[in-house]
Amino acid sequence: MASISEFFSAQHRTCDKVFEEMEEAVSAGDWPQAESSYRKLKQDTLQHLSNEEDGLFPLFEEKTGMQGGPTQVMRSEHVELRELLQRIGDAVQARDRNEVLGTAETFFLFLQQHNVKEEQVLYPMADQALQESLQELSAKVPGFPSSD
Ligand SMILES: [Fe+2]
Ligand SMILES: [Fe+2]
Repeated sequence: MASISEFFSAQHRTCDKVFEEMEEAVSAGDWPQAESSYRKLKQDTLQHLSNEEDGLFPLFEEKTGMQGGPTQVMRSEHVELRELLQRIGDAVQARDRNEVLGTAETFFLFLQQHNVKEEQVLYPMADQALQESLQELSAKVPGFPSSD
């Protein structure tokens, strides 16, 4: 069975790839491609954030008893990430190249710092704490493999 680290980190990589595609399209002035990459970026990112907020984090809090710890920090960072993502979307809609690229850079830097904390701290802790709860997790997180 895939570990929590593997599954959730792979989603980070997928979002990074779509982000790059969008940035390249904007740089090249290909707005139809930029719009379609943005839609995919938004969909994948929001899905990942809710996989964490509705699936991983509540289970982590329940099993570790850590309610106000790392998951609270991550949740508040998600609020900022959603805002930045929306600002990118508005700028794509307006076809404002400089605004897209500037906001995208801020978003990406913030996202990488967020992801490092999850990949180096939270996910490894979750792998330890939720060893017996992977089935429960797979019921709440679309695509998370259930055991045989
Ligand atoms: Fe997160
Ligand atoms: Fe994440």
